[in-house]
Amino acid sequence: MFWLLGLIFFIVCFYNFYWKRRLLPPGPLPFPFIGNYLELEADPPGYKTFEKWRKMYGDVYTFWLAETPVIAINDFNLIQQHFVKDGETFAGRMHVGRQAEILRGGDYGIVFVEGERWREHRRFALQVFRNFGMGRGLMEEKIQLELSNMFDDINEEFGNAKEIKIEPGPIFEITVANIINQLLFGFGYHGKKEKQEFSKMKDIISKHMRLATWPSVNFVFSFYPLRYLPYLKKRINEFWETELIIEEYCRKQIELHKKAIKISLEEKTTDPQDYVEAYLQETENGKEDFSEKQLMYMLFDMWVAGQETTANTLIFSILYLLHNPHVQDKLHIELDTIIGSDRRINLADKSSLIYVNAFINEVQRSVNLLPLNLLHKTLKDVKIGNYFIKKNTIVVPQISVVMYDEKIFQEPHKFKPERFIDDANAELKKIDELVPFSIGKRQCLGESLARMELFLFVANFYNLYKVTPIDPSNLPSLEKIPGVTIQPKQFSCNFIKRF
Ligand code: HEM
Repeated sequence: MFWLLGLIFFIVCFYNFYWKRRLLPPGPLPFPFIGNYLELEADPPGYKTFEKWRKMYGDVYTFWLAETPVIAINDFNLIQQHFVKDGETFAGRMHVGRQAEILRGGDYGIVFVEGERWREHRRFALQVFRNFGMGRGLMEEKIQLELSNMFDDINEEFGNAKEIKIEPGPIFEITVANIINQLLFGFGYHGKKEKQEFSKMKDIISKHMRLATWPSVNFVFSFYPLRYLPYLKKRINEFWETELIIEEYCRKQIELHKKAIKISLEEKTTDPQDYVEAYLQETENGKEDFSEKQLMYMLFDMWVAGQETTANTLIFSILYLLHNPHVQDKLHIELDTIIGSDRRINLADKSSLIYVNAFINEVQRSVNLLPLNLLHKTLKDVKIGNYFIKKNTIVVPQISVVMYDEKIFQEPHKFKPERFIDDANAELKKIDELVPFSIGKRQCLGESLARMELFLFVANFYNLYKVTPIDPSNLPSLEKIPGVTIQPKQFSCNFIKRF
């Protein structure tokens, strides 16, 4: 009996520690079945673990998510060489086990889709955003509209006071949500009831983003029959519930929208005012592979991707200023010199606000929003360094390691917008390694929207208000709550009117 157990033990160890790893770049030793999940879980959100592995194993190493190997590429030049110059090879996406089939009944949406459907729908979404942005200026118009609503709400809180104590998170979140809602569905949440409705949805999205990275959830997608085990059942059901609520929300928006769009399609009078309208027009024109199911999951992916990302970056901008008051002083000096009033700042002002741009760059670098980026998949055999990597292998451009690389960004954990300013001629310095939106074929689809939002939001908000801590001896925490995108902890601060 003992010899049999010994033999099984030997076979498991031989397979796990040697055989399955023999052709892959070296990396941390994985446990059987759970891979390196324990190490990743031990020190969330993961920056330190990834950095440690890079130091130990070099710029290309392998770690394991359960039984799936992930090849992490940590050097900017290597990322460029593969993900940009050989973009098509790295444009695949990883599925965690049978996730797409179980959750969506197949490959729908954009984030986890590849091949012709991904290409066609990515191209179409980019074209819609471009049309809204350029020429028509619809994108800026919608952002400015929602900023006006936000400033009205904040000013109402002020009443006659010059200073108020406030929790900025919910206000920023609803403004960002309204912007993406305007672009996708053509409306925002403004009344009290609508805001309450949004607040519930917001909690669902946050939960969804957190649960999506939980090892237990991903484990179930890899070993689906185990979903009935008590602990796993609870976890997967929680995740599933959030998925269904978001799906239902998107489905409802399409239905509500269809009636209004039917009229505009019949009258053929207006250019599309939002993404759903543009999509339905395209469907009407008989475009292949444009279906309501695909539309729903496109909306799901863009709506979720477009909220936490931008909102969390903006909320962190306040936290960094509370911890670095001298940076806020510099922001205000530039705004007072160049703008000098409470007038609305628009995109035409962007090139003259050097410090504001440098501040946004440093916020994005420091927030380092996606500790593990999103996972890609090779679509054909390829050589990375000295390693021959097979088609269908999971690879990740490790942008979070690049943005904390001390060789490129000295004292990476210090908040220094000045690193993005050229001392000699006081111009914005372009540092290629600032890659918060990733690079290559899978680069963030919402980058142009997010950049516009970040600039208009930051420039206008800090022009109108100053933020200060409620208790300078007890500053709000900069801790990051782990998830696909990291989240700030709840906090309050003071807003002071500047005009
Ligand atoms: C500060 C804001 C944002 C940051 C830092 C950010 C960052 C990222 C990153 C790192 C990726 C993964 C790239 C890769 O796989 O290599 C991504 C993908 C994506 N982002 Fe963003 N994002 C932001 C805002 C937005 C917004 C506003 C939208 C709204 C449409 C959006 C939509 C998407 C989509 C749909 C994808 C998947 C693209 C694909 O798979 O082809 N993102 N984003």
